[in-house]
Amino acid sequence: MIFYFTGTGNSLWVAKMLSETFHETLISIATELNEKKEENLVYSLRADEKIFFVYPVHSWGPAVSIMRFIARLKLENYFHQPIYSVATCGDECGYANRLLEKALNSRQLVLTNAYSVTMPNNYILLPGFSVDSKEVEKKKLEQAPLRMAEIIKAIQTEKTLDLYHKGGTPWIKTYLVYPLFTNLAIGKNSFRVTDACISCGLCERICPTRTIRMKDGKPMWADTCVQCVACIHRCPVRAIEYGKETIKKGRYYHPGIK
Ligand SMILES: Cc1cc2nc3c(=O)[nH]c(=O)nc-3n(C[C@H](O)[C@H](O)[C@H](O)COP(=O)(O)O)c2cc1C
Ligand code: SF4
Ligand code: SF4
Repeated sequence: MIFYFTGTGNSLWVAKMLSETFHETLISIATELNEKKEENLVYSLRADEKIFFVYPVHSWGPAVSIMRFIARLKLENYFHQPIYSVATCGDECGYANRLLEKALNSRQLVLTNAYSVTMPNNYILLPGFSVDSKEVEKKKLEQAPLRMAEIIKAIQTEKTLDLYHKGGTPWIKTYLVYPLFTNLAIGKNSFRVTDACISCGLCERICPTRTIRMKDGKPMWADTCVQCVACIHRCPVRAIEYGKETIKKGRYYHPGIK
């Protein structure tokens, strides 16, 4: 079973690769959270099941949707089948793995190992952050399959290799900055639409939290945004901006995303 969350497709690419290799079902966390309103999200496991959580790192912690999902997760027939965390990040993950492990433990689930895959950066909403240069983006996309091969081999051979990149000062970033992000940024947004909008409705369809609603042919944002940045990157005509911050910044989404 592969539970995944994605904004711009990097984590979806990882999840699909794991699904093809280990023949495990892909389950979209966004869909599950949107469609299942009962308190517990219940899934029944096979005896030989491998369980994966695949998600982007947001502000050196797990994307909040995955934490919300785990808080309601109930795995039936769980007899310590292996559970893996596979984070995608632009550069470094901090201790996102520890936060995920703690969340799993609170559901009586045990993390077997945590891995990370460096992918093109998609964070552009604050000053000082932008997408990678085309050269760096290309290099990261070339390196990612090699990293995935290492991760897959480690899982298949049950070796505990260190394939997780926490980066510098992880404690400060995860335990001080991530809470600021979840408290101050989540649920708010400064998205706006420009005259370039062609009313295609793609942003409304792809928003994982159903934050966007089309009104008179233009998108409107509610206060339920989780800052996945899918809308701003995937608009086909670059009609979405974040205040004035993103006007001169590039856009990115994984080339494999539909
Ligand atoms: C709100 C936000 C915060 C981010 N914070 C980090 C971070 O702390 N460290 C990092 O390396 N990348 C960070 N990124 C970049 C993403 O983790 C990275 O691009 C990821 O692969 C995107 O996955 P996705 O395409 O599945 O959404 C952040 C992206 C967003 C949108
Ligand atoms: S994706 Fe872009 S063009 Fe399409 S409705 Fe949204 S803002 Fe308008
Ligand atoms: S409004 Fe945009 S950034 Fe916010 S959750 Fe929806 S797609 Fe993601």
